[in-house]
Amino acid sequence: MGRFDGRVALVSGAGGGIGSAVADRLADEGATVVRTDLEAPAGGLVCDVTDSSSVTAAVAETLDRHGRLDVLANVAGIGIARCIEDVTLEEWKRVLDVNLTGTFLLSQAAVPALRSSRGAIVNMASVAGLRAAPYNAAYCASKGGVIMLTKSMAIELASAGVRVNAVCPASVDTDFLRNFALPEGADMALLTRGRSPMGRIIEPGEVAAAVAYLASDDAATVSGTTLVIDGAASA
Ligand SMILES: NC(=O)c1ccc[n+]([C@@H]2O[C@H](COP(=O)([O-])OP(=O)(O)OC[C@H]3O[C@@H](n4cnc5c(N)ncnc54)[C@H](O)[C@@H]3O)[C@@H](O)[C@H]2O)c1
Repeated sequence: MGRFDGRVALVSGAGGGIGSAVADRLADEGATVVRTDLEAPAGGLVCDVTDSSSVTAAVAETLDRHGRLDVLANVAGIGIARCIEDVTLEEWKRVLDVNLTGTFLLSQAAVPALRSSRGAIVNMASVAGLRAAPYNAAYCASKGGVIMLTKSMAIELASAGVRVNAVCPASVDTDFLRNFALPEGADMALLTRGRSPMGRIIEPGEVAAAVAYLASDDAATVSGTTLVIDGAASA
């Protein structure tokens, strides 16, 4: 028997490295998973998390197809590495829009259904939301915002039985990390402090396992927390 038997999960950014691992993990544990991304993953839906009508439509389609929603995993996200002087207003807004506003919009659209199911939200924050990284002002600000959004919703929805948590991974082996280009002239000495004493990159499946725990009844009294997955880098 799986922890998510009979439950329905919606995952944003499910075409990406962590999102697909989260969707696979929840499905392996019995959930009916609605995978969403900018381009619909196989059998899934298009959902641009920055577009409120797209978000509303994705939640409505999930409820039409499956009649309920128990788990929302807000995984969609982007990052742009820039020296602070070079961040354009468009880049700043885009990172905040996808990472922070997108998490807010999809959560807001899902809350009525989650109240009915006494469900759970798991947000994809980052260690960058807790411990600043250079050349990542917009990304750090967005993920710090995701953490406070998580905590605020957790308090507000606790009496309704809806739990809201976040995971904060360090470097995970996905395209996001592979395409991460530091600005020219970046001071490498500023970048060493986040290195993991475990000396290895995190696998997407390891993040997915943490998301599944927080979304499951095993975490029935866990809400408003940030689960750091960084191999003791911030210990
Ligand atoms: N990879 C890492 O090192 C790492 C570490 C900490 C946190 N994270 C976070 O994990 C999440 C997933 O990252 P990943 O490593 O799987 O990256 P990824 O690039 O493989 O996947 C990100 C997905 O988000 C989707 N996306 C982008 N903009 C979107 C939008 N407007 N609407 C809907 N979907 C959109 C992309 O299409 C992509 O499929 C992100 O929130 C990221 O900030 C990643």
